[in-house]
This record gives sequence, structure tokens and C-alpha cells, in this order.
Amino acid sequence: MNAMLKLLLAVTFILFTISPSTHGYDPLDPYGKMIIKWDLLHSSPGQHTVLVKLENVQEYRHVEKPGWKLSWHWVNKTVIWDMRGAETTEQGNCSAFASSETLPHCCLRRPTIVDLLPGAPFNMQVSNCCRGGVLTSMSQDQTNHVSAFHMTLGSFPGYPGEFTMPHDFDIGVPGYTCGNATSVAPTKYSTDKGRRKTQALATWEAECLYSQLKSSQSPKCCVSLSAFYYENIVPCPTCSCGCSSSHCVKSGVVPSFLKQKHDPHEEVSPVVQCTKHMCPIHIHWHVKVNYKEYWRVKISATNLNTRRNYSDWNLVVQHPNLNNVSRVFSFNYKAIPPLHSSINDTGVFWGFKFYNDVLIQAGEIGNVQTELLLRKDMGDFSLREGWGFPRRILFNGDECVMPSPIDYPRLPNSASYSSRLSSFGTFVLCFLLLLV
Ligand SMILES: *[C@@H]1O[C@H](CO)[C@@H](O)[C@H](O)[C@H]1NC(C)=O
Ligand SMILES: *[C@@H]1O[C@H](CO)[C@@H](O)[C@H](O)[C@H]1NC(C)=O
Ligand SMILES: *[C@@H]1O[C@H](CO)[C@@H](O)[C@H](O)[C@H]1NC(C)=O
Ligand SMILES: *[C@@H]1O[C@H](CO)[C@@H](O)[C@H](O)[C@H]1NC(C)=O
Ligand SMILES: *[C@@H]1O[C@H](CO)[C@@H](O)[C@H](O)[C@H]1NC(C)=O
Ligand SMILES: *[C@@H]1O[C@H](CO)[C@@H](O)[C@H](O)[C@H]1NC(C)=O
Repeated sequence: MNAMLKLLLAVTFILFTISPSTHGYDPLDPYGKMIIKWDLLHSSPGQHTVLVKLENVQEYRHVEKPGWKLSWHWVNKTVIWDMRGAETTEQGNCSAFASSETLPHCCLRRPTIVDLLPGAPFNMQVSNCCRGGVLTSMSQDQTNHVSAFHMTLGSFPGYPGEFTMPHDFDIGVPGYTCGNATSVAPTKYSTDKGRRKTQALATWEAECLYSQLKSSQSPKCCVSLSAFYYENIVPCPTCSCGCSSSHCVKSGVVPSFLKQKHDPHEEVSPVVQCTKHMCPIHIHWHVKVNYKEYWRVKISATNLNTRRNYSDWNLVVQHPNLNNVSRVFSFNYKAIPPLHSSINDTGVFWGFKFYNDVLIQAGEIGNVQTELLLRKDMGDFSLREGWGFPRRILFNGDECVMPSPIDYPRLPNSASYSSRLSSFGTFVLCFLLLLV
């Protein structure tokens, strides 16, 4: 019976940890996506002006350095004569225009566009450009979640001069898959202090969805647990993010492959410090104090990646008592808006600007931490059956591996532990059924 229960728990646990957000649907952010929006502003045979926007409408996923790299496939031999707010990474073969006064900006069939860097020449800028392709999440910063650029388009000699929407979009950020653009209602622009509205000639939108499985084969973070009433620390499960020790570094040692220079504008694969779990990010949850009306939890995040600073990192935490957070000491906190989903026990934590918003690479100060004070709901609060521990934790939108429920810290002298276990198992099962 006991073995059966353990097996059931193990299976549940595995399903539980891999089920959400792996199929492009995230129950915590059901409307989350990236939108590529094209506004056709002017169009005459052979010359078109377009405003392209990349909008991040996700609650807690963001785009970090090295930023987005947008590409698409032109249908009818289109060329980009001019670009503002962004640039293509290559010009391509423009010899067909050798006799014209200036060469086009890009003649490639499949151009790749990158955002300009901050401080780009003023005449090259447009509004919402020039942040090096970084896009914030909606929870963290609602003012920097859109990138935009302008293009003047034409076509190769002998090709039709009408504008045709390209297809096969890619935003160049691991994990995203984009659909084709569809025609939507034209965007309206407000002028004269909102008294008059003008509109685009036509507008198209393509949507891109995130899948953790597509982004990476193995998880990127894990969770360990402890409590004031339990003598041990429950570690991250062994091999949470991989098992190979060939590409990890011992703390304090800089191996030769790390001394090689790498392009700061390219994403580098993580080189982690050697641990049993091999994760680049390790989250620890400690149940610290039990007061009369409140209880206190300490959360810390450690960067074990020796090659990366995580700017504007965030943590999404699900725990039934997060509906009554009384105080968060050194992180920002926002509950996931209930309008957005039916979930009311989940929130996003992130750092304070210029204080702990960057999780510095391992070997430096690669650690951030906070404490939170939660108000007890007397009908619900318990230190039993693992209630005090989070149900899920996501780092930068990716699910972290949790310890198995059978290993959770338990109260001293817990008498009929297995009967409690079974009710916890039932809880996990019910929860799982709700999720899938
Ligand atoms: C460049 O394009 C022209 C025609 O547009 C073609 O004749 C020429 O071979 C191309 N050059 C290269 C190097 O591909
Ligand atoms: C490309 O140009 C051809 C010739 O004018 C036209 O028939 C075709 O519809 C165009 N393709 C698209 C996708 O508009
Ligand atoms: C997008 O459109 C192109 C051309 O019409 C087509 O070949 C491709 O399969 C479409 N892609 C998707 C994801 O629908
Ligand atoms: C991370 O930040 C530290 C401190 O600002 C800096 O020394 C280091 O070069 C940065 N690492 C990377 C990979 O950018
Ligand atoms: C938070 O706790 C207080 C005291 O128990 C209670 O009055 C309040 O309704 C709770 N808020 C929520 C959102 O549960
Ligand atoms: C949170 O949601 C649960 C289940 O959807 C519901 O039973 C509970 O009353 C909600 N709590 C609050 C404070 O809205």
C-alpha cells in the first residue's frame, strides 16, 4: 500500500512539474503572447511606409539581452529602402540597384532586424525604439514592453509594386513560435490632443507563443525547502537540470573555456557551478517564524551560472496564502490580476531598480533574497502536510523543479505521517486535475 502510494505520488509529481506552460498555454497567463503588428501608413505603386511594433503582452515573461531579432520572408521580392529605429543585420546583394543614387538598406529575401542600441543618433530614432531589443513584462514595467521601427519599402525591378505582407515570422528568442499575420481592424492614431483620429491604411497582426519545452530541453531552476521546525534542508532533486559534470565549474576555479572571449551580443549557453542539481538558478524557500496572526517566509534566489547576469529577473510563486500578503521586505510584489485568470493565489516578485534587479553571475554576488509576512487565514493556515511550501515557482517564466512531496520538511513527532501523506497526495492529484 505504502509503495503504491509512493509510486502514485512520484507519477503525480512528474506530471505536476512538467504539465503547465510546456504546450504554449500557460494557465497563469492565459492571454500572454508577443504580438507583431504591421501598420501600412502610406502606399503608392513601388513605395510603401510601414510601422512595425513588437508588443510583449505577457504578465511575467520578458525579453532580455541580447534582445529580439525579428525575421520574416518577403513574398514578392520586396526591398527595404530605409529603416528608422532598427536595422537589418545584413544588407545582402543590392547589385540590382547599382545605378540608383543610394543603395537600399536591405535586399535580402529573409531580413533579420535588430533594435538599435540606446544612444542611437537622434535622426535614426522613432518612439519606442533603441533599447537593444529588451522588452519588459507587463507586471514589471508597462512603459517598456513595446518596440517599434519604421520602414520604407519598394521592390526589385520588374516585380509588382503593390505591398504584400510577408510570412514565416520569427522573433529570434528561444521558445517562441509565430503564426502568420492576419488582417485586423486598422490602428487609429490620436492627434490634436485626442480631438481627431487618423488611421492606418491597413493593419496586420501575427502572434507568437512561448513554450518552455521548445526553449530548452532541461529545466533551468530548482527549489529547495527548509523550516524552523525541521533540522534538515530538503535539497533540490538530484539532476534537476542535468547530470553531466563535464561542463560545470568548481566554485572559485576559472577553467580555460571560460577565459575565451565571447560576443556580448550573443546568447551564451550557461556554464554552471558544479552542484548535484546542475541548475543555473536555485531558489530556496524557508518557513522562518510562526507568529500569532502572521507567519514569515524567506525566499532567496542564487545564480549558479558563471556567464550570465539576469537583469530584471522575476519569480512567480503560487501558494494559497499569497491572497493575503501583508508585507514584502526587499522585492517588489504584485498579485497576478484575478481578471486575467481564475487564479488568486499567485504573485510575481522582482527586484528594486538599482538595488537587486540584477542577479549577478556566480562567483560575484549572485544572490538576492527577501522575507515576506503573510496574514494567516485561521481556517486554512497549517504547518502540516507541506502547506507552508509553495505549489509552484517559476523563474523568468520557466517552471522550477520542486522536491518530491514525500521529502518535504515535516513537523517533529509527526504521528500518522502516512495518512497525512495520502491526503497531501489527494490534494496534489486534485490540483493536477484542475490544471490539465
Ligand atoms: C547579385 O544579384 C545579381 C542580380 O540581382 C546577380 O546577377 C549576382 O550574381 C548576385 N551576386 C551574388 C554574389 O550573388
Ligand atoms: C506576387 O506578384 C504576383 C504578380 O503580380 C501576383 O500575382 C501575386 O498575387 C503576388 N503575391 C502575393 C502574395 O501578393
Ligand atoms: C504561412 O503562410 C505561408 C504562405 O502562405 C505558408 O506556406 C505557411 O505554411 C503558413 N504558415 C503557417 C504557420 O500557417
Ligand atoms: C555581470 O555583472 C558584473 C558586475 O556588474 C560584471 O563584472 C560582469 O562582467 C557581468 N557579466 C556578464 C556576463 O555580463
Ligand atoms: C486577509 O486576512 C484578513 C484577516 O484574516 C481578512 O479580514 C481578509 O479578508 C483577508 N483577505 C483576503 C483577500 O483573504
Ligand atoms: C480564491 O479562489 C478560490 C478557488 O477559485 C476560492 O475558493 C476562494 O474563495 C478565492 N479567494 C479569494 C480571497 O478570492
